[in-house]
Amino acid sequence: MSESFAGKTVLVTGGAGGIGRAAALAFGRAGANVVVSDITVTGGEETARMIVQAGGIAIFVKTDVTRAADVQALVARAVETYGRLDCAFNNAGIEEESKPLAGCEEAMFDRIMNVNVKGAWLCMKYEIEQMLKQGGGAIVNTASVAGLVGAPLQPVYAGSKHAVVGMTKTAAAEYGRAGIRINSVCPGVIRTEMLERALEREPKRAKAIKIAHPIGRLGEAEEISGAVLWLCSDSASFVTGHQLAVDGGLTAI
Ligand SMILES: NC(=O)c1ccc[n+]([C@@H]2O[C@H](COP(=O)([O-])OP(=O)(O)OC[C@H]3O[C@@H](n4cnc5c(N)ncnc54)[C@H](O)[C@@H]3O)[C@@H](O)[C@H]2O)c1
Repeated sequence: MSESFAGKTVLVTGGAGGIGRAAALAFGRAGANVVVSDITVTGGEETARMIVQAGGIAIFVKTDVTRAADVQALVARAVETYGRLDCAFNNAGIEEESKPLAGCEEAMFDRIMNVNVKGAWLCMKYEIEQMLKQGGGAIVNTASVAGLVGAPLQPVYAGSKHAVVGMTKTAAAEYGRAGIRINSVCPGVIRTEMLERALEREPKRAKAIKIAHPIGRLGEAEEISGAVLWLCSDSASFVTGHQLAVDGGLTAI
C-alpha cells in the first residue's frame, strides 16, 4: 500500500499518456489533487476524467512546457484551484529518429533541447518559486538511462537527459535548505507510445532493446510511477539530488 497523498496537490506534465498518465492515475488513487497537463488535449482530458471516474480529484490544464507563459499559468492554476503545490512530476519529453551525432540536424537538436531541457527548467523555475512561498515541496524530473550513460544513435536525446540530471543535482543543492527536494527518475526502456513510435521507425531494434535489460523484459509505465510516488512521499524525506534508475538492470552492466 503506497503512502497517502490526500490533501496534497500534485502537478504532472506529459500526463496525456505513457509514464505521465500512469503517474497521474497513481497519484489520483493515493488521494492527491492532481493537475494533469500536456500539450495534447484529448489524452490529457481523458487522464483527468479517468482519475475522477475512479473517485479521485483532478483537472486538466493544456500546457506547452516550452512556453514560459504556459508553465507560469499552469502553476498559477494549480494554486488557484487547490491552494498550494506540494509535488511536481516534470515528465513531458520527446525523442526522435535514431541517428549518429554527425547525422543529426540543427532543427532536431533545437526541438529536443527545447522540450526536454528548456521545458524541465521552466517547470522547475515556476514550481520552485511557488514552493519557496509555501516553505517546501518535492519535485521529480523524468530523465532516462540516457541521462546516466551514453545512448548510441540518440546523441541529442542523451545530451538533453544528461542536462536534466545536471539541473536536478544543482537545484537540489540550491533549494535543499528551503525544504524542497528535487530528484530524477531514470527509466530504462518502457512500453509506451514513445517506444511504439521508435519501433515503428526501426523494428530491427526491438530484440536488442529487450536483451539490453538484465531482467529480461521491457518496463511498464506503472513501474516508473511507483518510484515517482516514493520520491515525492515523506518516506523519501532524506532523498534529494538523486538519480533513481528504474531500468531492469540496464545500467548495471
Ligand atoms: N518510454 C521510454 O522508454 C522512456 C525511457 C526513458 C525516459 N523516458 C521519458 O519519459 C517521459 C515520458 O515519456 P513516455 O514514454 O511516457 O512517452 P509519451 O510520448 O507517451 O509521453 C510524453 C508526453 O509528453 C507530451 N509532450 C511532448 N511535448 C510536450 C510539450 N512541449 N509540452 C507538454 N507536453 C508535451 C506528449 O504529448 C506526451 O503526452 C519522457 O520525458 C521520456 O523522454 C521514456
